[in-house]
Amino acid sequence: MKKFAVWVVAGAGLLIAAGAAFLGSGARDAASGQTPPSDPIAAFLAKHWDNPLPPQGAPPASFSALEASLAPEACGQCHVQQYRDWRVSLHSRTVGPGLLWQFRLMDQSAANGCMRCHAPLAEQKALMALDRGWSGAPAAPPPAYVPPNLQHAGLVCAACHVRAHQRFGPPARTPSATGPLPHGGFSPNAAFEDSRFCAVCHQFPESGPRLNGKLLENTYEEWRASLPGRAGQTCQSCHMPDRRHLWRGIHDPEMTARALTVTLDLDMFDSQYMLVQANIANTGAGHYFPTYVVPEVVFTLHLIDPSGRTKGEIARTVVARRANVELTQERFDNRIRSGETRILSGRFKRPAGAGWSVELRMDVSPGAHYQRSFRYALEHTAHMPREARQLLREALKQLEAARYHVTLARTVIH
Ligand code: HEC
Ligand code: HEC
Ligand code: HEC
Ligand code: HEC
Ligand code: HEC
Repeated sequence: MKKFAVWVVAGAGLLIAAGAAFLGSGARDAASGQTPPSDPIAAFLAKHWDNPLPPQGAPPASFSALEASLAPEACGQCHVQQYRDWRVSLHSRTVGPGLLWQFRLMDQSAANGCMRCHAPLAEQKALMALDRGWSGAPAAPPPAYVPPNLQHAGLVCAACHVRAHQRFGPPARTPSATGPLPHGGFSPNAAFEDSRFCAVCHQFPESGPRLNGKLLENTYEEWRASLPGRAGQTCQSCHMPDRRHLWRGIHDPEMTARALTVTLDLDMFDSQYMLVQANIANTGAGHYFPTYVVPEVVFTLHLIDPSGRTKGEIARTVVARRANVELTQERFDNRIRSGETRILSGRFKRPAGAGWSVELRMDVSPGAHYQRSFRYALEHTAHMPREARQLLREALKQLEAARYHVTLARTVIH
């Protein structure tokens, strides 16, 4: 065992792709933000999210195999609720076909740049290198505390909570049991309750890639300027209520609807026509609605007949930050800022008879940008390896399946 005390990709510390170089400083920039370096939370985060993360090394001799394991299933033996939540969350799916088809076309250093956010443990990078047959892959098989499939497990518990086999977590809310705790107890740190903990991956640094002058990922800064952010409501308070590990967002119909407060008003325009106006306010997201360049949300007003069938569209608007597939040009950006109200209105001929209504509907494509760019890649990449093409098709299928719609409001015509 001793021989594999440090089991990692050879020279991982040096392998930062030129293209991903800006990402290397991300943790530090985002973590230090505007705050002075003496800030203990910034200092903790800079070390906790060092890029690349150092390998865990050999576990303390006193640890059982269960305590030493980096497998989320092992944590789940004792932390049942967190494991159940995490398993259905998107953080457990950060290594899917959408990432893997690209890894077939990338070298190790470029892939490691992606894995900083998608699968950041040194042990995950080493396993991925073994999978791909990259030159820096370790010669030895993984030690027992590294489960053989960890590279596919996504953003695992250990990525956020374990360094050198030591557990880090938020200060306990209820006093822990007395006596010796499993895995040598834990080191509490308020950084886990701070939005900067999330900024490491959800905010590009000042020097990061921009489009039309604006950073491509700006969630933390949007949050700081938002109404909830200024009121001190952290990312965790909305995305991890009661410390739940679900991280629901734009992929979740209920969560997405909760971002909005809508009203729907009808009025006579003249003797024949009616006016409808929907006010769509971002009152519940702690950032732009939506925050990324990836999703698109289409709002439509429909006339509904007495049997509930749609009888025509009155108005529509697309809310997104849309870019071309290469991410070199922004087509438009009309995301709804925190506290801002978007108005959608239209005119329609008053239907004869009773029981008609008007409906405000929201169609969400959580992965719209990826759908466009992946389709483009499928059609325009010459000599794509067969495996990559298969994964790409699978990724497109998943993106398509993630689309949904919600009826936000309905008003009966009197
Ligand atoms: C054998 C049971 C067991 C296993 C396995 C285990 N833990 Fe724990 N863990 C505990 C107990 C008991 C505590 C202390 C009581 C508590 O806060 O839940 C604890 C505390 C923690 C805390 C601190 C909680 C806080 O209040 O901040 C974190 C974080 C944590 N464990 C993470 C993990 C992770 C990650 C894994 C897997 C890599 C893991 N644990 C595996 C039993 C276990
Ligand atoms: C993306 C990072 C991340 C991942 C992945 C993650 N956690 Fe956490 N975990 C946190 C944060 C942040 C908190 C504190 C939330 C708060 O205070 O609002 C936390 C809190 C905890 C706590 C303390 C809970 C309490 O009620 O006091 C435990 C235990 C824990 N996590 C275990 C796990 C386990 C087990 C997994 C995997 C199944 C896991 N975590 C995955 C970030 C993460
Ligand atoms: C700074 C952190 C960060 C880095 C580095 C990063 N990503 Fe992501 N990635 C994210 C976040 C956050 C999301 C979810 C939000 C979104 O959809 O944009 C995401 C989503 C994705 C998705 C869509 C979800 C899926 O699984 O299909 C793909 C594909 C993806 N990233 C690929 C990559 C690739 C390839 C790289 C490296 C070239 C990379 N990412 C680098 C943070 C990052
Ligand atoms: C180590 C990097 C990392 C950290 C730290 C991190 N995330 Fe994520 N997060 C990701 C990636 C990558 C995805 C994309 C998952 C996918 O779609 O494949 C994601 C997805 C999400 C989503 C799902 C959004 C959707 O599209 O529905 C939410 C919400 C989220 N993260 C919130 C948080 C919060 C809150 C924190 C802090 C407690 C946090 N994240 C910390 C990397 C990270
Ligand atoms: C006041 C509650 C609230 C706060 C605070 C908040 N969010 Fe959200 N977040 C939401 C809601 C609601 C959605 C779903 C609607 C949307 O996508 O804007 C969401 C969506 C997301 C998404 C999905 C992707 C997308 O394009 O919208 C990510 C990622 C995310 N939040 C991360 C964060 C991070 C990181 C922070 C802290 C810097 C944060 N959120 C703060 C409520 C909040």
